[in-house]
Amino acid sequence: MNSPRGLDGNTCVIGLQWGDEAKGKLVDLLTPRFDLVVRYQGGANAGHTVVVGDATFKLHHIPSGILNSRVMSVVGPGVVVNPATLLKEIDTLRDRGVVIDHNLLLSDRAHVVFPWHIAEDQALNDSQVKGEGLGTTLRGIGPCYRDKVGRMYAIRLGDMLRPDFAALVQRVVEAKRRWLSGCGGDALDAAAIHQEYAHHAERLRPFVTDTTPLLLDAVEQGKRVLFEGAQGALLDIDHGTFPFVTSSNSSGVGVSAGSGVPGRWIHTTLGVIKVYSTRVGGGPFPTELFDATGEHIRERGREYGTTTGRPRRCGWFDAVAARYTARVSGADLLSAMMLDVLSGLPELRLCVAYEIGGRRVTQFPSHIDDLRQATPVYETLPGWSEDLTRARGGDDLPLNARRYLERISELVGCPIGIVSVGPDREQTIFLQGRASAAREDCRV
Ligand code: IMP
Repeated sequence: MNSPRGLDGNTCVIGLQWGDEAKGKLVDLLTPRFDLVVRYQGGANAGHTVVVGDATFKLHHIPSGILNSRVMSVVGPGVVVNPATLLKEIDTLRDRGVVIDHNLLLSDRAHVVFPWHIAEDQALNDSQVKGEGLGTTLRGIGPCYRDKVGRMYAIRLGDMLRPDFAALVQRVVEAKRRWLSGCGGDALDAAAIHQEYAHHAERLRPFVTDTTPLLLDAVEQGKRVLFEGAQGALLDIDHGTFPFVTSSNSSGVGVSAGSGVPGRWIHTTLGVIKVYSTRVGGGPFPTELFDATGEHIRERGREYGTTTGRPRRCGWFDAVAARYTARVSGADLLSAMMLDVLSGLPELRLCVAYEIGGRRVTQFPSHIDDLRQATPVYETLPGWSEDLTRARGGDDLPLNARRYLERISELVGCPIGIVSVGPDREQTIFLQGRASAAREDCRV
């Protein structure tokens, strides 16, 4: 459903690549005109960085909207929660003066990450699929989602607050000790785990509720909701580069499932792209660069993982992939991030097609064996040398930068409304049309 102007109505912010598209900055920027901000998938594998003045905040579970105390931040049913990590986030934010009292809610339906999930993730880390490791974030995300789908050994936040929580932990630990024997299972101590998690549960109790009716009431009453996607659409469990993906629906299709808010209430999808590509972990990456240009992007873009500190793999912008994910996610408008990083490169390349088995292909392959064979077909555009970090309007951008953005927009099939030229809120450009109306929605 297209909204008539700006970022009207309930909006979701979706990464269209392999994550790390700087969604945290955008969500923080857009938050003031919304009443609620909702995280709905992923967990502590996500790392959203928000820079406010001299302060840098790194958030893993909590929506980036938390920095605005007027807004309700919601962790929805589709998120997998690591209570210790979440409490650390809460404590760190409080220590730095951020108000967290009546403005954070956690769904009692959200599943909980336990030590056995992390042990399993670590044990599987050495395994190979298609000749390569998955390279997960080792936060227990995949094993926790697997238990959720398997149902028998899943524990949700709401379960931690019930009188039979100790018995539930005992039962699950007995099973996990059997299955994970030799890879961390033997060390599992049900009583100690229960004690630790019961303590976390008491601290989290004031925030835990059934968020689903609350969100439905909010949209029915005309309150404005911003949905904050984690990871990116190419990591989507159903629509991404399977099996080198995360275990949740990180494309636009995940919003309703993970929040409980049906599609009729989601009015605008803002697709977030970096103007080049990055990926962490394993899996095919057709436009990956192994030369000085890749190094330039990594260093200028500070392309090191927020959660794991791993250097990110860097490459040219892949318009075949982004066109596909923009369509799957239903993107109405694009936000192009990190444009300043490309300053100083004499020429830039855009991947406009792949060559696979001697055929030119413009449709993103569904099987990674095909993606692995893909040789990018590039279009070359002239670069620019100017520093863009002080640009505040479209006219401040050099002609070559504008041409580069226009070509990306054409290839992806979606207008670019917002351009980011640095980590600060002020380093944001709102282009003509819908996005210039969106400027009113933001605190710049
Ligand atoms: P998992 O989500 O920890 O299971 O990791 C699966 C894959 O998704 C790995 O390649 C990770 O590097 C990647 N991944 C997970 N979360 C993020 C993220 O927030 N940004 C970028 N990549 C991610």
